[in-house]
Amino acid sequence: MKLKTKNLLTLSELSQKEFSQLIDFSIKLKKELKKGGNKPLLKNKTLTMIFQKPSTRTRVSFEIGMYQLGGNAINLSSNDMQLSRGESIEDTAKTLSRYTDCIMARVYNHDLLEKLSEYSSVPVINGLSDSFHPCQILADFMTIKEKKRKLKGLKIAWIGDGNNVCNSMIHGCALSAVKMSIATPKGFEPNRNVVSEARKFTDIEMTTDPLKAIKNADVVVTDTFTSIHNRDPKRTKKFIPKYQVNSKLMKAANNNAIFMHCLPAKRGSEVTSSVIDGLQSVVWDEAENRLHTQKALLVSLIRA
Ligand code: CP
Ligand code: NVA
Repeated sequence: MKLKTKNLLTLSELSQKEFSQLIDFSIKLKKELKKGGNKPLLKNKTLTMIFQKPSTRTRVSFEIGMYQLGGNAINLSSNDMQLSRGESIEDTAKTLSRYTDCIMARVYNHDLLEKLSEYSSVPVINGLSDSFHPCQILADFMTIKEKKRKLKGLKIAWIGDGNNVCNSMIHGCALSAVKMSIATPKGFEPNRNVVSEARKFTDIEMTTDPLKAIKNADVVVTDTFTSIHNRDPKRTKKFIPKYQVNSKLMKAANNNAIFMHCLPAKRGSEVTSSVIDGLQSVVWDEAENRLHTQKALLVSLIRA
């Protein structure tokens, strides 16, 4: 499959049909891999990865994904690039476009990705910005589909910080007619425009009450209370204990609800060990599915 968009900076660049096709393609690639291996769909293609921030899953899954499809990936820390000495993002984008078939970047400011994609002639993928994490949500919705066998009509409860992952999850809900209820402390809500746009397609409830959000939920999601870009050391205190996903809170969701977390997690903070290491947790499938969904995305973006 090929996508209409050149880049994937946010999931709002996809149509509902493309989102659903990407998930089905990911499931197909996963099955194929488990049966013996994928076809070399990206033979001789290269991905350049730029990291302004640390990563475990994103870096490894993109690199191994390219390898499994017959291509290659190179990893650049922005500190080691001329970017760190003042070379412009425009010149960096134009230079990299002459070598590589795709760029994946993990950045602080989302605007940097916009500029990178504007001046790059090859596709640019957001590997996490302060505002969005589209690759994570592709993997999350693949995981939900595998576990629940459907997406439409389900209810996701987001408990905690209305952060970058939450913003992308709202996009995912709008693309798949999944309802979402978001419980955050006052002042930690997700992006207002993202919420109002998504409400044209699905129900997005905003509350400060985790018990209200989690009622009838099929999927319970949280993320760290301190994202990489958050600087306030006292931030976590505004969330604990009310917004911690623990066994008691999980009991208020549907009996067969699954628990999700993009990782890395801080046990005892946003989630207890009993939940993340418990029977309802699907966090390792979620992490694995980063590999399969990103492979589907790379094949769909990189032109033959
Ligand atoms: N979930 C996620 O993006 O993990 P990393 O920060 O390890 O890449
Ligand atoms: N919200 C987290 C996600 C990490 C994958 C962060 O931005 O640090």
